[in-house]
Amino acid sequence: MNALVDTSPYVARRERVFAAIGDDIAILPTAPEVLRNRDTGFLYRHDSHFYYLTGFAEPEAVLVMVGGNERKAILFCREKNLEREIWDGYRYGPDAAREVFAFDEARPIAQLADDLPALLSDRRVVHTPVGMNASWDAQISASINAVRGLSRTGVSAPSTVTDLRALLDDMRLIKDSHEIALMRRAGAIASQAHARAMRFARPGQYEYEVEAEIAHEFIRHGARTPAYNHIVASGPNACVLHYNDSNRRMQDGDLLLIDAGCEYAGYASDITRTFPVNGKFSGPQRDVYQAVLDAELACMEVLKPGQSFNTYHGVAERVLSQRLLDLGLLKGTLDEVLEQKTFTKFYMHRAGHWLGMDVHDAGDYRKQGVWQTLKPGMVLTNEPGLYIRPDADVPEHFWNIGVRIEDDVLITTDGNENLTAATPKTVAEVEAACAR
Ligand code: GLY
Ligand code: MN
Ligand code: MN
Repeated sequence: MNALVDTSPYVARRERVFAAIGDDIAILPTAPEVLRNRDTGFLYRHDSHFYYLTGFAEPEAVLVMVGGNERKAILFCREKNLEREIWDGYRYGPDAAREVFAFDEARPIAQLADDLPALLSDRRVVHTPVGMNASWDAQISASINAVRGLSRTGVSAPSTVTDLRALLDDMRLIKDSHEIALMRRAGAIASQAHARAMRFARPGQYEYEVEAEIAHEFIRHGARTPAYNHIVASGPNACVLHYNDSNRRMQDGDLLLIDAGCEYAGYASDITRTFPVNGKFSGPQRDVYQAVLDAELACMEVLKPGQSFNTYHGVAERVLSQRLLDLGLLKGTLDEVLEQKTFTKFYMHRAGHWLGMDVHDAGDYRKQGVWQTLKPGMVLTNEPGLYIRPDADVPEHFWNIGVRIEDDVLITTDGNENLTAATPKTVAEVEAACAR
């Protein structure tokens, strides 16, 4: 019944947390279940930090890590329950969960409130998410107050509650080999989905028909959920950055911008490709596409260890600005365009973000005002774009062209690895993929 779980990555991450907390205690709940309507819930998604340290995907679970001499990792989880398992499916229960996921102890979640005061007694610092969830904050406060109530028996209550997420954010910024393997797979599945969309799309179809092809390719590879809501945006919709309606009928001559990535075993991919619905770029479409592609490729060159996180954002702005000037879409000198940021009329977002379990992943971009330096094991997206809305100052043949090209990039010891390199990207590759 119980699948074999490779617990070594989770145990190794917990070791690092034990080392960081010393004699203190860390307490980490997973995500709550969320109602969608009346009796129906959203498909359950665990909390990423919790999963990172446990590999345990059931709801109603809390990890407690007691440091110091007693040093132990305790999982609180749902008990076995035949009736609930008939309706909702298998649950591990504490005994099997302890064994399968290599915890020192496991206890029923119903015991958590009763057990916390004893676990908190004589600990100075509680490491837990602070301000993430009001009812969790209240539960921690109540447990600490319960310890205070016992002070005459000689125990002392923690004096400090500190946010465990800061430590976990830093850890998650550098992916380990287990995570990198899963992210390669998430990238490969999403690459295939984009190629499938290029093969499938034709004028006259609705955007949702193409979205269905993407979803099909994700799910048939075991990636049951998207990492974020798909953007399948044709014609003028490509210039709406977070377009989510997918209900327009695609026309001959449209570009189709698809931003779609899957979640595979808890890890996200995040790919954007833009292609002509009829299979051939028009002249102006090709010019804008090539400008974005040149920016994306120039960014790839500076995505390597030792570079500031901010460097590639500057490269994207510089290349896109120069090409906007070349195309006559902006006026002035390159320095003026960059200084006055007039490029933001057509390029109004950043060049990318950390990627991991969350599509906009954990981790600071700046520390004390200084941009992070890229290091091996970091994963980020590279996603410049240009979006040209109808405008009296813009030649009409450019109107409604929206192009973004987005890949997922792992920083390696000597440069980078493009996790989504299999996705057609050059003009020739895209047109060939559309022709199949
Ligand atoms: N799809 C979300 C993003 O590209 O940031
Ligand atoms: Mn994206
Ligand atoms: Mn992205």
